[in-house]
Amino acid sequence: MVKTFDINSIRADFPTLQVEAYGKPLVYLDNGATAHKPKQVIAAEKAFYENYNSNIHRGVHYLSQKATEAYEATRTLVKDYINAAHLEEIIFTSGTTQAINLVAFSFGKGMISEGDEVIISAIEHHSNIVPWQIMCEDRGAILRVIPMLPSGELDQDAYKKLLNSKTKLVAFNHVSNALGIINPVKTMIAQAHDVGAKVLIDGAQAVPHTKVDVQDLGADFYCFSGHKLFGPTGTGVLYGKKALLNAMPPYLGGGEMIKTVTFEKTTYNELPHKFEAGTPNIAGGIALGAAIAYMNELDFEAIASHENELLAYATKELLAIEGLKIYGESKHKASVISFLIAGIHPYDLGTIVDKMGVAVRTGHHCAQPIMDAFNIPGTVRASFAFYNTLDDVDRLITAVKKAANMLR
Ligand code: ALA
Repeated sequence: MVKTFDINSIRADFPTLQVEAYGKPLVYLDNGATAHKPKQVIAAEKAFYENYNSNIHRGVHYLSQKATEAYEATRTLVKDYINAAHLEEIIFTSGTTQAINLVAFSFGKGMISEGDEVIISAIEHHSNIVPWQIMCEDRGAILRVIPMLPSGELDQDAYKKLLNSKTKLVAFNHVSNALGIINPVKTMIAQAHDVGAKVLIDGAQAVPHTKVDVQDLGADFYCFSGHKLFGPTGTGVLYGKKALLNAMPPYLGGGEMIKTVTFEKTTYNELPHKFEAGTPNIAGGIALGAAIAYMNELDFEAIASHENELLAYATKELLAIEGLKIYGESKHKASVISFLIAGIHPYDLGTIVDKMGVAVRTGHHCAQPIMDAFNIPGTVRASFAFYNTLDDVDRLITAVKKAANMLR
């Protein structure tokens, strides 16, 4: 298949990019929160409801079989997309948050005992903090945190010191949602494996920017959300190594995850169904397949170089603004920039920039400990996707400058 990257035809695929905000062409720089959907994804969701709405894995009838085939086709697309070894290693969830909660609950129940240690990092999203806090409290385990350096990068020396024979699980993000920093995932996973720990990677902010190979990384668990990968909300994936998933107890109980049920004893279904209780988001799952099929046609090297150009240009232009500081400095960054201007509250800046048609996110980005560590209330965050342009950066810079002048 010939991979392409033609920004104009790509932009034409995304209806929301044609929207006006306050009478101005929208510049959407909140892709870290959620990305827009190409028309192929929207069409796939609509086609399901119009043509073959039915429950899956249950019916012998025509529509149910068609729906099951389409839903399961997404599993194959996901498996190939992240290079998992086995189809049953792909568990569908409602998103990254549910995937992490699944592992925290199930791995915690089955494999964590009193006095064991779990390591997370100082630059996690709340969804990769709170489930581990709940689980550690429940199991009597100890939660350790890899500190961050002033740059926002993780302190790798401190990480090595935290790892020990009591460490059972390490969980951290591939890319920080609040800072854009790309963690040295492969090395950190290998170091955790050296002490016998398993590793969960929150890949929510990585998959929209980079190709992920879970086998090459060596991750035991890798999770991401469909809606940040240009697919529907309410969809997500947990990848887990088969032997591990097989050894873990179920998370949610209900239909689909069982083999036999009597009042005396229930036996559980095979993977992946053991972890997929209840009717899933069928339309969303099918449309997630359309999003991955869309991504499969794009040239990822071209995407990386385009996004790096956006990142470099926006960084340079933002830093030229008086009093502006960028939070999260690293040679390895995704196209996400968090910044503040001295004396200006991020919410005020974001609100005025919005009125100029530029959508950014303001606040703590569900990563309060990072903001506390920097001793700031939050940041303004511009997060770019491959469909953004250098013109979008120019609009951002003009808006930030104007807003700063009004607020100073
Ligand atoms: N986790 C999403 C963000 O970073 C919501 O904005």
